[in-house]
Amino acid sequence: MKTYTVALMPGDGTGPEVLREGVKVLDAAAGKYGIKLEYHEYDFGGERYKRSGETLPDSALEELRKFDAIFLGAIGHPDVKPGILEVGILLKLRFALDQYINLRPVKLYPNVDTPLKDKGPEHIDFVVVRENTGGIYTGMGGAAMVGTPGEVATQVMVYTRPVVERCVRYAYEYARKRNRKKMLTLVHKCNVLTYVGDLWVRAHEEIGRADYPDIKRDYNHVDACTMWMVKTPEYYDVIVTSNLFGDIITDLGAMIQGGMGIAAGGNINPEGVSMFEPIGGSAPKYTGKNVINPLACICAAGMLIEALGEEAAGAAIDTAVHDALASGRIRSLSAGRMGMGTTEVGDLVASLIA
Ligand code: IPM
Ligand code: MN
Repeated sequence: MKTYTVALMPGDGTGPEVLREGVKVLDAAAGKYGIKLEYHEYDFGGERYKRSGETLPDSALEELRKFDAIFLGAIGHPDVKPGILEVGILLKLRFALDQYINLRPVKLYPNVDTPLKDKGPEHIDFVVVRENTGGIYTGMGGAAMVGTPGEVATQVMVYTRPVVERCVRYAYEYARKRNRKKMLTLVHKCNVLTYVGDLWVRAHEEIGRADYPDIKRDYNHVDACTMWMVKTPEYYDVIVTSNLFGDIITDLGAMIQGGMGIAAGGNINPEGVSMFEPIGGSAPKYTGKNVINPLACICAAGMLIEALGEEAAGAAIDTAVHDALASGRIRSLSAGRMGMGTTEVGDLVASLIA
């Protein structure tokens, strides 16, 4: 039997509750598809930080490198200053494990409310490939004369050709494999960011022309992209974009697919260890009440098992989520309004794995 090791990082707030349901559904799929999953749990997050001052020690990084995948609940604690856990855990993992792709499907399932008028599941189904370790997130820049009237600060948008190229290639491959419209839209702001934008535009153009003639090349400025995502989301198939733009447009994407209760993402190193997470955060006020929606985490579980190479099991999880929502038994995706508890949603999806 094929065995995979998965590091669990439940994290803060409702993270542990949603992760439990994600694992429940993973196990149901593993059982059906003859896969064995071995878990090891880590307690990184706000509580540990408050106890020990430790976010993610380097020794843990070395351990995490040995797993086949990492499954994360949520990071973010009301008593910890914003930034500390995000940088010390989430971004540290992305950088150290070189998870250079952030894959974010934007998919509206049946019976899910979207704020977009007259749009249904047939209109909202695309994927954003966000570059995940470079750009403004690299952390280069500085400040001088801080606290004086003339203080100055810079934050540098850093991109190298290899970093852009590996991301663009991943996105082309993804568009080919997805095999829908076979279109890769580069989203940038090359009319103003004339250096970095030009690097992306040429990489997208040259790589596409040379190696992906079957994939249609398309370009949108990022500001226009936010308009089209609202007006004609059905236009998109696969979007590739830089780190900060991807961060911003995928929150918009999460809203049009029904909100943070359903939005999942993968921090992917195609040659290494990847990490999957619901992108919604720790929602501390709902902690321990069995009201938080675990579907985003369950969708992340589907992405995780697919990334392990178990595509049928991944598809089975996606279909089970689809069927659970299509059944009409989940009344809303919002915490406390689902008409059932967190654990019942997990049970329902797990029972639908076929
Ligand atoms: C995300 C989050 C992170 C990001 C934060 C928590 C650092 O917003 O995963 O989209 O900006 O990448
Ligand atoms: Mn974000």
